[in-house]
Amino acid sequence: MQSTQKNIKNNNLLININKLNVFFNTPEGLSHVVKDVNFNVKKGTCLGVVGESGSGKTQTFFSITGLLAKNGYAEGEANFKNYNLITCDDEIRRSFLGKSIGFIFQDPMTSLTPHLKIGDQLAEIAIYHKKITKSQALQRAAEVMDVVKLPNNRDIINSYPHELSGGMKQRIMIAISLMCEPDLIIADEPTTALDVTTQAEILNIFNDLKNNLNIGLVLISHNIGVIAETSNDVLVMKNGQILENGNTHEVLTKPKNDYTKHLLSCIPPWIGN
Ligand SMILES: Nc1ncnc2c1ncn2[C@@H]1O[C@H](COP(=O)(O)OP(=O)(O)OP(=O)(O)O)[C@@H](O)[C@H]1O
Ligand SMILES: [Mg+2]
Repeated sequence: MQSTQKNIKNNNLLININKLNVFFNTPEGLSHVVKDVNFNVKKGTCLGVVGESGSGKTQTFFSITGLLAKNGYAEGEANFKNYNLITCDDEIRRSFLGKSIGFIFQDPMTSLTPHLKIGDQLAEIAIYHKKITKSQALQRAAEVMDVVKLPNNRDIINSYPHELSGGMKQRIMIAISLMCEPDLIIADEPTTALDVTTQAEILNIFNDLKNNLNIGLVLISHNIGVIAETSNDVLVMKNGQILENGNTHEVLTKPKNDYTKHLLSCIPPWIGN
């Protein structure tokens, strides 16, 4: 077990990322895809991460949660609950993932198991991490279904993923991430595959999670409009680097970087006023 030297002193601070770098071994040589990245996520707030495809958004958070592909590795610090998630034992990192840290992916079909009923998928994670009985886990499932505003609990609990709409499946993914009362939820393009109305409903749920449950949220999106509506702070990434980092309103109203200005020129004028 390796504990970090730095205790997180600020009570509101949930995770501190310091000089994080991610590399991949490729047939062409070493590829450096995340470069000296620094940022914090605070409790009860949303950090938006925006940037073009390939800018390093996903790999930054894969490195923190131990999800990098086999040819990748990370260096630096991700200080969370007195551990550096980059250098700690795999076992410790695994114990955080799904429990204290939830990860929500763009396409819920790749994360949900097709042949398992929704109720069993919700229960499974709590039985594994919290060592509770199935009936206790199903009770918790009913609570989290309420949080993600899913109606008609029993019908959904007994259904299979293919029987649900895209928006319902994404609500189930959020519900699964809530089963073990996480401190941090990382959502990677969670609304990209959804129509605009469903997207707005899911973003409202994220706002409830940070405001009512004090969860720290990371919302990764290539859509700066989504970030403008949901995040308190924002990172703008390009080529593996953070170009701008700060309060969302400040960054969006007074962008310093030309790339941020370019991204903003793509937002419809009625958003972010
Ligand atoms: N296993 C791998 N081997 C080599 N390079 C990789 C590997 N996985 C990702 N990369 C590279 O890392 C870089 C950053 O990728 P990343 O997935 O973080 O992009 P992203 O900002 O999330 O983009 P998108 O918006 O398309 O999801 C890209 O250039 C990508 O090609
Ligand atoms: Mg990505």
